[in-house]
Amino acid sequence: MPDITFILPDGTPHGLEAPEGVSLMQVATGAGLNGIVAECGGSAMCATCHVYVDPAWADRLPAPLGNELEMLECTATERLPTSRLSCQIKLTAALDGLVVRIPERQT
Ligand code: FES
Repeated sequence: MPDITFILPDGTPHGLEAPEGVSLMQVATGAGLNGIVAECGGSAMCATCHVYVDPAWADRLPAPLGNELEMLECTATERLPTSRLSCQIKLTAALDGLVVRIPERQT
C-alpha cells in the first residue's frame, strides 16, 4: 500500500496509507481532507481536485492527457508545471512516498 503525503493548504503534512488502484482524489475525499472538492466525481470535468505534485515526483507520474490537460486550464488557483488533477492519478506501488500539495482553494 503506497504511503501518500498531502500537504494541506495551511502547510500541515497529512500522511495516508492508500490502496493501489484508486485515484489520489478518492484517497483524499475518503479521508475527509479539506481542499479537494471533486465536484464531477472523478471525470476530469471540473478541476476542483487540483493538486501540486512535489517537484521531486512530477516527472515520475504519467503525463497528463486529453481532458486532464484541458481542465488544467480551469484551475481556481495558478496552474504550475507540477499541477495535476488528482482524480486522474491512479495509485500504484511505484508511487509509494508521493507528496502533493493541496491549493488554497478549488473554486
Ligand atoms: Fe472533477 Fe477531478 S474530480 S476533475
